[in-house]
Parts: sequence; C-alpha cells; structure tokens
Amino acid sequence: MRRPDIVSGFFMKKDELYMKKAIEIAKKAKGNTGVNPLVGCVIVKNNRIISEGFHKGLGYPHAEIMAINSSVEPLAGSTIYVTIEPCNTWGRTPPCVETIEQIAFKRIVIGMNDPNPSVSGKSVRKLRRKSYNVITGVLRDEVMDLNPYFKHYITKKKPYIVLKVALTSDMKLSVPGKKEKYFTCLESRRIVHSERYKADAILAGSKTINSDDPILDCRLFDKKYKPAVIILDFSNKLDYSKRIIRDKKRRKLIFVSCKFRDKLERRDDISYFFIKSKEETWLKIKKQIHSENIISVFIEGGAEVYESALSSCIADEIQVFYSPVYSGGKLKFDLEKALLRGYVLAETRRAGRDFFARYTCSQA
Ligand SMILES: NC(=O)c1ccc[n+]([C@@H]2O[C@H](COP(=O)([O-])OP(=O)(O)OC[C@H]3O[C@@H](n4cnc5c(N)ncnc54)[C@H](OP(=O)(O)O)[C@@H]3O)[C@@H](O)[C@H]2O)c1
Repeated sequence: MRRPDIVSGFFMKKDELYMKKAIEIAKKAKGNTGVNPLVGCVIVKNNRIISEGFHKGLGYPHAEIMAINSSVEPLAGSTIYVTIEPCNTWGRTPPCVETIEQIAFKRIVIGMNDPNPSVSGKSVRKLRRKSYNVITGVLRDEVMDLNPYFKHYITKKKPYIVLKVALTSDMKLSVPGKKEKYFTCLESRRIVHSERYKADAILAGSKTINSDDPILDCRLFDKKYKPAVIILDFSNKLDYSKRIIRDKKRRKLIFVSCKFRDKLERRDDISYFFIKSKEETWLKIKKQIHSENIISVFIEGGAEVYESALSSCIADEIQVFYSPVYSGGKLKFDLEKALLRGYVLAETRRAGRDFFARYTCSQA
C-alpha cells in the first residue's frame, strides 16, 4: 500500500498540472473580458482532459459552463479544475454553482476564492455542504497574476493606476542630444513590457507621442499584447501621423478640450472624451473608464502628465527605473515630492545596470 503523503503528493502535482492548463486557457481571452476577470477551466477524467472552457467576455458563459456544455463525454466521476471559485449569484448569467451541483463530480479543484469579499468562499461552502470534495488554493499566486488588478477594482470600485517613470542619475526624464530614445537598459525595458501586459490601457501625453513616436505595446515579453491607449491632448496638438495613431486596430481614448469638439477626425478606433479643464481629466478617468472596459491604467509620461497625475494623487503605485546615465538636461521629475504624498517602498531589485523600485500608496 502507498503511503498517504505519496498519494497526496501525486494529487498535488496533478492538480498543479491541470490548474496550469486552466490558466493558459484563461489567457485566450486576454484583452477581451473587460471588467470581468480571465477565467479558465478544464475537466479531467481517467487522467485525460475531456473538456475545457474559458470566459470570452461580458455576456458570454462562464468558463466552467463552457467546459461543462462542450463535453461530449459523461461528466460523472470527473474532476473539474477552475481558476476562480464558481459564482454564486445572478449576474449577466445564472450562478455557476447551481449547474455544478447537478453533476456528480469526484473532485472540484479551485485556484482562488472569489475576490469579491461579499461572496468569497460562499460557493465553496455550499459545495462542501453537499459533500463535494473541494480543494482550494491550487497555484493561487499564479491564478491571482491572471487578474492582478481585479480585486482592487471589485473592492474599491475604481481603476488601479500605475505611474511608471525612468530617471537618469541626475533625476531627469530625458537625455538631450541622444539619438537612441531609451536611456534605460534592455532588462528595464523587459520589466516595463511585462508590467504593460498587466494593464488594460497605457496612458501618455500628446507631446510624448509627438516627440518619441512610441508603440507602447508588449514586444520584449513572452506574450504579445497591445493594450488600449489613452492620450491626454488638452490643446489638440496630437500629430495624427504617428505610428500609434496610424494603427487602426489599436483602441484609443483621447481626452481633449471641448473647444475642439467639431474639429476632430472621427474614426471607429478613436473615442474622444471632452473636458472643460485639465483638472477634470483624472476624475473622468477614475469614474468613467470602466464603462470602456478599462480597470487598470499604466501611465508612461511625459513630464506634464506626471506633474498633473501627481498633483491629483491619482497613482496607486509608482514604478521608478533608475539609470546610471547622466543627462544634464532640464526635464525633471520631482521624485521626493511625489513620494511624500504617502508612498512606501514595496520592492527593489537590480534590472541589468539599472535599478528598479516599486512604491505603493498607503491610502490606495
Ligand atoms: N523618462 C521617462 O520616463 C519619460 C516618459 C515619457 C516621456 N518622457 C519625455 O517627456 C517629454 C514629453 O513631456 P512633456 O511634458 O513635454 O509632454 P507630455 O506630458 O508628454 O504631454 C503633454 C500634453 O498632455 C496634455 N495634458 C497634460 N495634462 C493633461 C490633463 N490633465 N488633461 C488633459 N491633457 C493634459 C498637455 O496639454 P496642453 O497642451 O494643454 O498643455 C499636452 O498636450 C519627452 O521628451 C519624452 O521623451 C520621458
């Protein structure tokens, strides 16, 4: 007879393997689920995946329902792996837990409980009361990484906003006369691309778009992804010939003064938000962009946008890439003043020849 620890170790490895598969499947909907989380599900019988599903987006069936409905084999005696606890309430679709209860699953394996505190754990308890063997917390950290800002959005009802800045050794934002637009090293830029992967939208000022012509996507990362772009362009100075604007597949949200309402190029890929003053912008972003399916924003500059974001205390997190390159230029970023607004150091690490620091807002 096998020892129980060997048996439980065997199950643990298998559970992790299938949960990994559910995580990979969930990513198929990256960028499409809007304010809903990415969720994946696999159903396993006799060591074989017999069905799988993922949540495609708002109004579509949840991952577990897609997997249950698409199975051609009987589900009794199988194990269902789902990244997030099945829902227990009516939303756009009926509660998934009620469908699960109709099936004689041998085991139910869950990555993490529902991040919404008002319902978290309810489905797990309900299923256990009905004598299901429910295992929770399998690859919890990896499952949480699927939807890094979802819990913040659900609990605080506002987007998670990260301000990222690259600084020279003399705390400047650019190096005058430098042909190559980057002064940070490749390792830093890789981290930036992986951070962009977590965001629904990248935000930049029109002057940064005009001068740097950036693409603002994830290229230097193992997954390719183009988040939506938010451009602050109060005085309508944006150059529409720049690469990011020419890319009609990329969704763009432009915040511009209402004075220009009748003078703008109307296009399907651009939504305009009209503002009376620049002070209004951040409030509008905080209050309205979830209706555009955006729950996280990654601010990438430049100087004026940073200044404006910091004086409105909008950022939940500040990420700084310190480069050893000297600038001698004028474009500065007052990091000390920024950090005095209630940020605490949460992480530091080397990034090639640069140094990376993450500060989180104690009031976020
Ligand atoms: N080191 C870094 O991490 C980094 C990152 C990005 C950019 N940069 C550098 O920064 C420089 C560009 O910075 P910049 O200060 O000239 O320009 P910017 O911040 O990129 O863009 C300024 C534009 O944004 C508009 N704007 C600012 N706040 C706004 C608000 N609250 N609502 C609506 N519109 C708003 C401004 O409107 P108005 O026209 O009305 O003023 C202006 O059109 C470039 O040299 C770039 O290379 C450095």
